[in-house]
Amino acid sequence: MSGRDWLAMEEWSVEAVDALLDLAARIKRGEVTGGLEHKVLAMVFMDPSLRTRASMETAMFLHGGHALCLEPGKGSWALETELDVVMDGTTVEHIIEAARVLSRYADALAVRSFPKGTDWAVEREDHTIRNFARYATVPVINLESSRRHPCQGLADALTLREHLGETTGKRFVLQWAWHPKALPTAVPASAAIAAAHLGMEVVVARPDGFDLDPDDYRAIGDLAGRRGGSLTITDDLDGAIDGAHAVYPKSWGALAHFGRPDDERASRDGKRDWRLTAARMARTAGGRGIAMHCLPVRRNVEMDGAVLDGPQSAVIDQAENRLHAQRALLLELIGSGS
Ligand code: CP
Repeated sequence: MSGRDWLAMEEWSVEAVDALLDLAARIKRGEVTGGLEHKVLAMVFMDPSLRTRASMETAMFLHGGHALCLEPGKGSWALETELDVVMDGTTVEHIIEAARVLSRYADALAVRSFPKGTDWAVEREDHTIRNFARYATVPVINLESSRRHPCQGLADALTLREHLGETTGKRFVLQWAWHPKALPTAVPASAAIAAAHLGMEVVVARPDGFDLDPDDYRAIGDLAGRRGGSLTITDDLDGAIDGAHAVYPKSWGALAHFGRPDDERASRDGKRDWRLTAARMARTAGGRGIAMHCLPVRRNVEMDGAVLDGPQSAVIDQAENRLHAQRALLLELIGSGS
């Protein structure tokens, strides 16, 4: 372990996260150059990406460093993630050796590994990213694991600060949205943690049966409380959106049915109206609240095209802010001044 990993925003002090956000804002204004000369970031993508990969590669390039990208099973060896396993199946290399070897080449490792959808009691422990961090000897960056997407959360916080100015006490609605597939909880949990970090009134609007993990609610509520905000959980979507300053529609699967896809799919039946529409955006504070999404988004499923393309949409700013937030994170973790 390096002792300095970025696995979950709430594991860093609030002062350290504020410093990252301040640095990201300075970077975005063009006030910071260089700092990663001759530094290497090794990225391991066990699952697909557009924004995360492109913004990380760009961040390293812009500051004089280099990013290499491995896709296990597609040009690099398929990786085994179970610790005590007899590797007589399809995987060829263990993450133990992968983490140790890549640590000899690179100044930091970055890993994306989604949940496999088998057993939430196991997957909620976030073993893959935690074991990469355990066996690496350089900092490890979470590019989305079973439980967290802290790079997205950092960009979300930067976007909220930019669009809302003072955030304390303003309302952030994390809106469960219907989706044809059961999606992970990493993004919604991380977005709510980001809003909690900013001292916002965090409202999770979800149908019964679609709660986040209890530990996520604890993390969101504790952080919000410490920062002058709050956490409310409701099934009254329109009531939550009335007067909201930011609405973040995002789908996630019912954890009670995790690993049982037929039951889980049935639990989503009849909920297609859990969608962010223009009419709902008109109910936000002064009719000017912002609409957020991590992307990729299914148009007219999670959010209407009219909202995505309209003046209240902040989604492209959010995607841009992935770059600035990660430039700040990389400079903090491995920059020449760190
Ligand atoms: N928001 C996000 O992580 O996008 P990608 O999956 O495209 O990286």
